Amino acid sequence: MMILIFIVDENFAIGYQNDMVHHISRDQKRFKEVTTGNIIVCGRKTLESFPGGRPLPNRDNIVLSRQDLPPQKGMTLVHDREGLMKAIRDLNPDGTKKVFLAGGGQLVEALWDLADEADISMIHHAFDKADVWIPNLREDPEWVLTDESEPMSDGEYTFTYQKYKRITPDK
Ligand SMILES: NC(=O)c1ccc[n+]([C@@H]2O[C@H](COP(=O)([O-])OP(=O)(O)OC[C@H]3O[C@@H](n4cnc5c(N)ncnc54)[C@H](OP(=O)(O)O)[C@@H]3O)[C@@H](O)[C@H]2O)c1
Repeated sequence: MMILIFIVDENFAIGYQNDMVHHISRDQKRFKEVTTGNIIVCGRKTLESFPGGRPLPNRDNIVLSRQDLPPQKGMTLVHDREGLMKAIRDLNPDGTKKVFLAGGGQLVEALWDLADEADISMIHHAFDKADVWIPNLREDPEWVLTDESEPMSDGEYTFTYQKYKRITPDK
């Protein structure tokens, strides 16, 4: 019921020192287009990495933290999975909005079983500087690559947009 949305390097590194491994402005525009009007779920550290530490506009931002963070417009704070599920039901009673799991590494680990699709911007490069990763979907037998764009360049690196789906492995 959740779509992972990340920009990753070829080792599925997503972050370094509370920032992304690399910024691609075209990808950031696409992230905005894809997530606007929908729900993003993120951890407290990812919220802090957003501009001004504020929720992203024109989207419902559900933030997980064990702390009582100060309220902010556009943000629903939850403390555990039960609170998250209730917030999703309240914000999306008819199920018309997409729910994106937008980071970071800890949240992906905590909510891994809820993710059944992934919208990945893959930078075809291995960055030396990385300290947060998500699981490598290409090496995970439960996930299949279903679509990939033509290669693009940001002038420095080649990147593609990839779609993955979780499949039930044959047993
Ligand atoms: N490349 C990308 O697309 C992308 C996207 C998003 C983020 N990132 C990167 O990822 C990094 C941040 O990831 P991270 O793993 O360090 O942090 P994170 O997952 O964003 O946030 C971790 C925080 O979330 C809260 N949390 C985690 N699990 C929880 C649970 N089960 N219940 C309640 N609260 C929970 C805790 O907050 P409290 O400590 O307040 O309790 C925890 O400290 C940054 O480098 C960021 O730039 C990259």
